Amino acid sequence: MESTPAVDIQGVVKTFGALRALDGVTLSVRRGEIFGLLGPNGSGKTTLIRMLVGLLRPDSGRISVLGRAAGDAGILGRVGYMTQKAALYPDLSVRENVDFFAAVYGARARVADALRVVELSERADSVVATLSGGMQQRLSLACALVHGPELLLLDEPTVGIDPLLRAEFWTHFRRLTAAGTTIVVSSHVMDEAGRADRLGLLRFGRLLAEGTVAELEARAGVDDLEAAFLRLSATPEGAAT
Ligand SMILES: Nc1ncnc2c1ncn2[C@@H]1O[C@H](COP(=O)(O)OP(=O)(O)OP(=O)(O)O)[C@@H](O)[C@H]1O
Ligand SMILES: [Mg+2]
Repeated sequence: MESTPAVDIQGVVKTFGALRALDGVTLSVRRGEIFGLLGPNGSGKTTLIRMLVGLLRPDSGRISVLGRAAGDAGILGRVGYMTQKAALYPDLSVRENVDFFAAVYGARARVADALRVVELSERADSVVATLSGGMQQRLSLACALVHGPELLLLDEPTVGIDPLLRAEFWTHFRRLTAAGTTIVVSSHVMDEAGRADRLGLLRFGRLLAEGTVAELEARAGVDDLEAAFLRLSATPEGAAT
């Protein structure tokens, strides 16, 4: 069971009307790694993440998550999802928001821990609407991880937060993977995505390439990730020449 990948995506196609949001994506995420989905606006990152939670179904292809079919009710409690737009209750306090998610998953005992991790313990009684944007991002992260998920899906978790806090988020992501959690994190920012163990480069719903930053750079024959992305985008199969 543990030897199966955390996420296995095979030939997934998803269309919205005439638009092919995902056009035959195949990739796999290993247990305990941070996998970055890097791609520009509209490349299909959110669509792919929503499929992993089972919110969307592929038109064709197959997705397994933690050894089960994506969307299988049995795995929802083992997955945490931080959406791109904060899904918080603005009229409730910080603690009440985390409490709500904890209650859904039967994880009330972890609320204080989750707040400590995102450094919001002092603001536990503040109403969410009165928090700064970055604090709301932190709270969203607390809500996504309060039940101790094996797989954490983070859709652009650090957009709009300052560099210091971004570094703290990553320190925390590393702590989680050291404890066995698998993380899939989307980004359209090269230097952020470059912190992941491995990356999938998405463009127009296609996976251009998959690998470590060093592997992607070597494949493109360049020495920085941005140049690699551009080079791999320019060739249909992501080939080096
Ligand atoms: N529910 C939907 N109905 C119609 N089109 C959709 C829907 N969801 C996504 N799309 C389209 O699918 C494509 C991929 O969108 P998606 O949200 O997955 O991109 P993204 O990589 O997450 O972009 P961003 O960086 O802007 O968040 C876009 O062209 C988008 O307009
Ligand atoms: Mg998105």
